[in-house]
Amino acid sequence: MDINSIRSQFPILSKKINGKQLVYLDSSNSSQKPLNVLNSLDYFYKNEFSNIGRSIHSLAVNATNKFEETRISVKNFINANSKEEIIFTKNATESINLIATTFGQMSIKKGDEILITELEHHSNYVPWHYLRETRGAIIKFAPINDDGDIIIEKFKELITSKTKIIAVTHLSNVTGTIVPIKEIVEIARKKNIPVLVDGCQSAPHIKIDVKDLDCDFYAISCHKVYGPTGVGILYAKKKWLEKLPPYNGGGGMISEVNKNQITYAPLPEKYEAGTMPTAEVVAFNESIKFMQSIGIDNIIKHENELTNYTLEKLKKINSVNIVGNPRNKAGVISFTIKGIHPHDISTIVDEEGVAIRAGHHCCQILHKRLNLNATARASIGVYNTKEDIDVLCDAIKNCRKIFELK
Ligand code: ALA
Repeated sequence: MDINSIRSQFPILSKKINGKQLVYLDSSNSSQKPLNVLNSLDYFYKNEFSNIGRSIHSLAVNATNKFEETRISVKNFINANSKEEIIFTKNATESINLIATTFGQMSIKKGDEILITELEHHSNYVPWHYLRETRGAIIKFAPINDDGDIIIEKFKELITSKTKIIAVTHLSNVTGTIVPIKEIVEIARKKNIPVLVDGCQSAPHIKIDVKDLDCDFYAISCHKVYGPTGVGILYAKKKWLEKLPPYNGGGGMISEVNKNQITYAPLPEKYEAGTMPTAEVVAFNESIKFMQSIGIDNIIKHENELTNYTLEKLKKINSVNIVGNPRNKAGVISFTIKGIHPHDISTIVDEEGVAIRAGHHCCQILHKRLNLNATARASIGVYNTKEDIDVLCDAIKNCRKIFELK
């Protein structure tokens, strides 16, 4: 893997922040975008822009074809069965809301249970909470241990005859835990319970094969996968999309509209109401090509090496406490320093050009479970290097000096 060539594809990485070379370690929040994605947006708007799926003039037909090419790329990227199983949304949050709302409408009544875990970030909790508020559902939280791993035995014990759906993250945005989704789906299958996987964090870091995982639903945010903002993906098994009611109503998702009756468009349009983020979906095809040009195995190898390097270096700094120690971990490293608030850590390292996130990372349940209010988090992308981590660690040492820690 030629890291210099990869870095040269991200113009923002050569920028200076506060007079220092930018070190971007906030990819779990949103990744930076490579040139082919940026150029695609620019080219499409300048040369090819049109709304899709409506007009039949040449520009519109070409734009529609390009939009649909991305759908096929996504299908291949996650190994779905058919392109009808790929729905474009606004982000992973909307993908999860789509399933929570439509599945809730169809299947959840008072007293029914939804099983999630203590690892979930707000996007995979709040949409289910709505079903508690509106339909009287009960939400159960599968516990984790102090390392940040789901306790599978306890998870199994929480499944009852009232469990209607299981929703679980593939990769924690705080501890970096890679969750054994296959094992969870196997448990769920025996009880005939559908599984939604929140793939917000996993998509840029892990090989995703929805056929192999056998999950029912999988949600992705494209802006975390080197793609533009405003695009998300919902993968759902066709049998569900055929059965579930529509979500947003409007143009594009209908077949025929009468005063007393409406029929809906076939899949996938049934779930794509209104004008879609056309240029952004087209550009996301370039994000997939970018990842494929490196190869997911090379990405995993590079990020694993960097994660281990980061953990080793951070552990050597006095009073740095790394949050969680899961069996299988990706490059999401949250930490605290006794005596310094994470916001102060973030502000001080920012003066050295280092971008990390500090706070609860939209994951308050997990922070409360770990008796923490906030953490600082360095999260790795394919463009990061050992030198980036060295700058981070020097900046952290500087924090300790400012706060006069021993
Ligand atoms: N965007 C959120 C994060 O930073 C969820 O992890």
